[in-house]
Amino acid sequence: MDKKFYITTPIYYVNAEPHLGHAYSTVVADVQNRFHRMCGQETRFQTGTDEHGDKIVQAAQNRGMSPAEYTDLISGMFRNTWPILNVQPDNFIRTTDKHHIATVQRILQDVYDKGDIEFREYEGLYCFGCERFYIERELVDGKCPDHGTEPEKIREKNYFFLMSRYQDWLIDYIKNNPDFITPERYRNEVLSFLKEPLEDLCISRPKSRLTWGVTLPFDENFVTYVWFDALINYLSGLDYPDGENYRKFWPFAEHVIAKDILKPHGIYWPTMLRAMGVEPFKKLHVHGYWQMKDQKMSKSLGNVRKPQDLVNAFGTDATRYCLMREMAFGLDAGFSDESFVTRINADLANDLGNLLSRTLTMVKKYAGGAVPARDNPPEDSSAPAYELERSVPEMIPLWKQHMEAFEVHRALEEVWRVINVANRVIDKAAPWQMAKEPEKKGELDHLLYTLLEAQRIFSILIAPVMPETAKKIQDALGVASESRLMLESAKWGGLVAGTETKRIPSLFPRLDIKKDSETGQTQKKQKKAKKEKGKKMADTKEAKGAGDGLITFDDFMKVDLRLAEIVEAEPVPKADRLLRLVVKCPEERQIVAGIAEHFKPEELIGKQVIVVANLKPVKLRGVESNGMLLVAKDKDGLHLTTVATPGEPGSKIS
Ligand code: MSP
Repeated sequence: MDKKFYITTPIYYVNAEPHLGHAYSTVVADVQNRFHRMCGQETRFQTGTDEHGDKIVQAAQNRGMSPAEYTDLISGMFRNTWPILNVQPDNFIRTTDKHHIATVQRILQDVYDKGDIEFREYEGLYCFGCERFYIERELVDGKCPDHGTEPEKIREKNYFFLMSRYQDWLIDYIKNNPDFITPERYRNEVLSFLKEPLEDLCISRPKSRLTWGVTLPFDENFVTYVWFDALINYLSGLDYPDGENYRKFWPFAEHVIAKDILKPHGIYWPTMLRAMGVEPFKKLHVHGYWQMKDQKMSKSLGNVRKPQDLVNAFGTDATRYCLMREMAFGLDAGFSDESFVTRINADLANDLGNLLSRTLTMVKKYAGGAVPARDNPPEDSSAPAYELERSVPEMIPLWKQHMEAFEVHRALEEVWRVINVANRVIDKAAPWQMAKEPEKKGELDHLLYTLLEAQRIFSILIAPVMPETAKKIQDALGVASESRLMLESAKWGGLVAGTETKRIPSLFPRLDIKKDSETGQTQKKQKKAKKEKGKKMADTKEAKGAGDGLITFDDFMKVDLRLAEIVEAEPVPKADRLLRLVVKCPEERQIVAGIAEHFKPEELIGKQVIVVANLKPVKLRGVESNGMLLVAKDKDGLHLTTVATPGEPGSKIS
């Protein structure tokens, strides 16, 4: 790993307010920044806003504001959004900053003096939406591929950056540096574009048409084309060419973008840098698009999700987690509130949150609330605790490799694989049994130490994505050192025996899907949409001949089956068939079960049963039910399902 790291997001146009898509790129950059910092590197993270051009002028006009007032307003919204997501950039740049404008002009003058900018008359097809000329082969049925409108033929004199001079150099550079543009599909896309001759780039707009831009230093009748202006932010934010930050960080520059702006970043930017005599950036990381229910997210379609709404519905860390976990970097992903809620309930409330609360409860009960010693480990080398003790150190290099490759979703997957090892180890080792046998005290202590230590290390590995949760876990474990969230602290054995642990409120309360109301969809509409979706799926299955009643392993794993202990049972008034139960699994929850005709309430108390724990809550006769009791039915009536030997309430059944 290098000693330094410089990460950037695109600078966002201020013609729209911040939404989920912007949030994703910015959280990716923040996660990477935190990751590299925890590895001991000196880091810098820059984001900002792109404020010149036609689109901005139009948006300002629509609001009855001057471009300057309008850009201040929306740029401020972007700036204020990032703390809500706990995103901490070192620099927020605006293309209307004086310093940036001066840098753009200086670079234009240098490239002009070098002879790489030429004044030419040009007739071309211009799309006002994109603010750029198109060549015939880029159009789809004669229309702009992004706007679906026919570009207008415009004839005007303009300045051109002689980009074509650098085509061969760029092809060689990309071929010789396989990691320059990743994932590979985007590298291939740029290379395939470069198979055709590269056109020179028109980099000016006459002031008769547009004044809201950076005036060309060598011709005051023109302003600079937005992309030539915007890309330079990555340098002006480092005080190019003389600044300390430029010297320090430019050789380590890595840009995060989505696929929509691959061409400016993969072609214009490296050739511009070449013309300036500046080394290319180090890497370009390209991700896919978030789609809303199979559509592109856009303001005009009215399906935009605001970061603030997501945080209100899910919380900051959970939003960051879902953004990182639900999109495979480089591919498109579909957003829905349901998928976020399912993800939060399964991964955060159940796997991570329950693991911590179960462990702390056991440490309190069996070890007086302090980290136990691990100096009497079990002699049996197949004891479940050893599996965890082995899995944790093995996971760290894999996690790191994925993080470095910008595959945060895979890094998280790796951590969750081992979180589930920890959950399984509890079920297998059955500490509640060990606690009954005094000669197993040493083994029990070792097991509890192993569980606590594994979670200390999990907290470090999840810290780039969920910094607040990481701190909460470490507070509960009593970890106090300064460097507690540095990667070098993730070595096995860091927890000190005797340290007091603290029970804390559950990390992630289970969420109710009803939060979907924020999408603006009424429950009725949602139901209808779901019904239609279900029908569609059934139709497709039938068409494919897949109606064999089989489900995949993944389908099965969606069902969260838990062992639960019945602690209360009583009839539901005016409902002959219903009993209201309170079960411990491990938190207490209320379930309404249609078993009143088969069991007396008092005979159920203390029984261990199997419940489905991730069913959407429903109301039965006005009483909320949060789960379902599993029973077997035969000619004699109903039989409760349970496990062969008593287990810890809350244990996962798989
Ligand atoms: N101003 C230019 C970028 C100049 S960078 C020198 C611009 N701005 S933008 O506001 O349109 O932002 C585009 C970027 O926002 C995408 O590349 C991506 O990072 C993010 N996203 C916007 N919508 C998105 C999705 N629906 N999904 C994922 N990311 C998206 O282009």
